[in-house]
Amino acid sequence: MASALLLLPVLSAAFLIVALGPRGGGASTLRLDIHHRFSATVRRWVESRSGAAVGWPERGTVEYYEALASHDRAIRGRALSDAPPPITFSEGNATLRISSLGFLHYAMVSVGTPSVTFLVALDTGSDLFWVPCDCLSCAPSASMNQRTDFEFSMYSPNMSLTSQKVPCNNNLCELQSECSGATSLCPYKVAYVSADTSSSGTLVEDILYLMTEDARSEVVEARIVFGCGQVQTGSFLDVAAPNGLFGLGMEKISVPSILANSGFTSDSFSICFGRDGIGRISFGDRGSSDQKETPFSVNKVHPTYNISIVGISVGSTATKADFSALVDTGTSFTYFADPAYTQISGAFHAQVQDKRYVPDSRIPFEYCYYMRYGSDKVMSSSLGISSLCSALYTNL
Ligand SMILES: *[C@@H]1O[C@H](CO)[C@@H](O)[C@H](O)[C@H]1NC(C)=O
Ligand SMILES: *[C@@H]1O[C@H](CO)[C@@H](O)[C@H](O)[C@H]1NC(C)=O
Ligand SMILES: *[C@@H]1O[C@H](CO)[C@@H](O)[C@H](O)[C@H]1NC(C)=O
Repeated sequence: MASALLLLPVLSAAFLIVALGPRGGGASTLRLDIHHRFSATVRRWVESRSGAAVGWPERGTVEYYEALASHDRAIRGRALSDAPPPITFSEGNATLRISSLGFLHYAMVSVGTPSVTFLVALDTGSDLFWVPCDCLSCAPSASMNQRTDFEFSMYSPNMSLTSQKVPCNNNLCELQSECSGATSLCPYKVAYVSADTSSSGTLVEDILYLMTEDARSEVVEARIVFGCGQVQTGSFLDVAAPNGLFGLGMEKISVPSILANSGFTSDSFSICFGRDGIGRISFGDRGSSDQKETPFSVNKVHPTYNISIVGISVGSTATKADFSALVDTGTSFTYFADPAYTQISGAFHAQVQDKRYVPDSRIPFEYCYYMRYGSDKVMSSSLGISSLCSALYTNL
C-alpha cells in the first residue's frame, strides 16, 4: 500500500491533536539508560561538568533521603496530574512551510552521536521516519542548498557512536520476506502516492534528541528506529522532503508510536500550522479539556487519521455531508471527491465576486479567478485557501 505524500500548492491552518492507534509490543528492542538522579553515574557527570557536585547530598544522610523524597513527590505529583510533560525536538518546536519544497511543513530534527541535524517534512499520511543516509541516490545537495538557507545533511550509521543495527528478526521489520537471514540488516521500501516517489534502504536504531516543554527544557534522548534512506526516487530528488521525511502515522514504527510505547510521552501529539506558515509540534500533548473532538475510523491493518465529515460550510452556505477524509500533512492541498467537490466548488464559485480565469490546461485547477487587490483575505477566510486558485480536485 502506498503511503500518502502528495504535492502541490496550499494548505490551510489546521490544529490537530492526534491520539495514536492500536498498540502492540514494539518497545522490546528499545533501550533507555535510566540513572537515578542521585546515582553515582549522575554525580560523576555533574562533577565532570562543574568540578564539584555542589549541594549534592551525601548518600545515607538525612539530607540525602530528604532530597530523594521531595524529588519523588515532585515526580509523583506530576504523574498524577498530567503524566510526563510534552516533549518536542531539541532544535525547537517550530515547524515551517517551505514553498520551494512542495509547500510542505518542515521541522529540524537531530539524530546520532555526534548529532546530525536534518530539515524533514512532517507527514501524518505515512509512518516511517527516514533521512538521506550512505547515499546511492539522494537529492543533489548542491542545487538544493540554493533553495533554502539550510545545508542538507546525510546520516551514516558508521559515523554515529550510538547507532545500532536493526536485524530482520526485529519486530519492527516489515520486509522480512526480503531478508537473507534473521540477523541481516532489515531492509525497508516505502512508495508514496506522488508519482514514482519512494525511499528505500535499511532500518537503523539511534538516538533522537528531544526536549521537555516544561520550564526545565530537559534534554530527552530517545532511541528510535528509522530509515537509512540510501535510494530516493521521484519528488524526493527535487521538490519535496530532500532531507528526509518524518512519518507521524499511527503504525508502531512511527516516532510518536515509539515515544508512546517506550513511555517517553502519552500516546498523542499536536501540530499546529499557522496561516503565516509557521507552526508548532509537541509530542505527548493531550490538548485542552474544552477542545472539540472527532473520532478516527481506525482500520486495524493499516490505521490512518481517517475522520468522518458530516457537514460542510462555505462562506454563508452550510450543507450536510457524509464522507470520510484523511488528515494528511504530507499532501500539500486538499482533495475532495464528488459529490463533495461539486458541492464545495459550486458554493465557493457562487460567492466569489471576482472574474473567473479562463481555464488553462497548464493550471491543475478548475476554479481560478482574477483577484482584486485585497480580496485574498476574503477568499482565504471562506475556504482556508490563500492562493490564486481554489485548490479543489475531483475524481480521486
Ligand atoms: C514553542 O517554543 C517557544 C520557544 O522555545 C515557546 O515560547 C513556546 O511556548 C512553545 N510553544 C508551545 C506551544 O509549546
Ligand atoms: C560500515 O561499516 C561496515 C563494517 O565495518 C562496512 O561493511 C560497511 O561497508 C561500512 N559502510 C559504509 C557506507 O561505509
Ligand atoms: C475511512 O473510514 C471509512 C469508514 O470506516 C471507510 O469506509 C474508508 O474506507 C476509510 N478510508 C481509508 C482511506 O481508510
